[in-house]
Amino acid sequence: MRGTILRLGLLTMLAAAPALADSPGGRPAKVALPDGEQVYNQICAACHLDKAQGSPDGTVPALAHNAKLADPDYPVTVVMKGQGGMPWFSEMLTPAQVASVVGYVRTHFDNAYPEPISEADVKRIAAKGSEE
Ligand code: HEC
Repeated sequence: MRGTILRLGLLTMLAAAPALADSPGGRPAKVALPDGEQVYNQICAACHLDKAQGSPDGTVPALAHNAKLADPDYPVTVVMKGQGGMPWFSEMLTPAQVASVVGYVRTHFDNAYPEPISEADVKRIAAKGSEE
């Protein structure tokens, strides 16, 4: 039930996205969320919840205090490509937004992985094993 509602919310956001014009230069400004904290609160928190504690029933994992975030490639891959019940965001978020939201979760919610993630890192990971 809950999953369906969340999924509908996400689809609504996805459906709204093309209405926002792509910016010149080929970098689409799909959602106007400037920083990682806003991306987290507007999108990720719908499933991972406000303190990144995950869903009480355990279907959405906590991002808080999550050792799997230590290797930046892992969260970037999950966000760009999706995994299980986690949707992919490569069409909704720009590489810069993915870099900033992953950077945000890696340095908040009891995670302390300060190594920054760049847009280039996101593009490199997105290109792995695909044509992009
Ligand atoms: C529609 C619900 C939903 C949304 C929105 C969502 N996630 Fe997830 N996320 C999940 C689920 C479910 C999983 C578990 C996937 C699996 O491994 O089966 C997950 C897994 C993850 C993981 C891997 C965690 C681990 O311990 O393996 C990361 C990292 C992650 N999400 C980050 C994000 C970020 C960042 C955002 C926002 C851009 C986001 N998620 C938005 C549902 C969601």
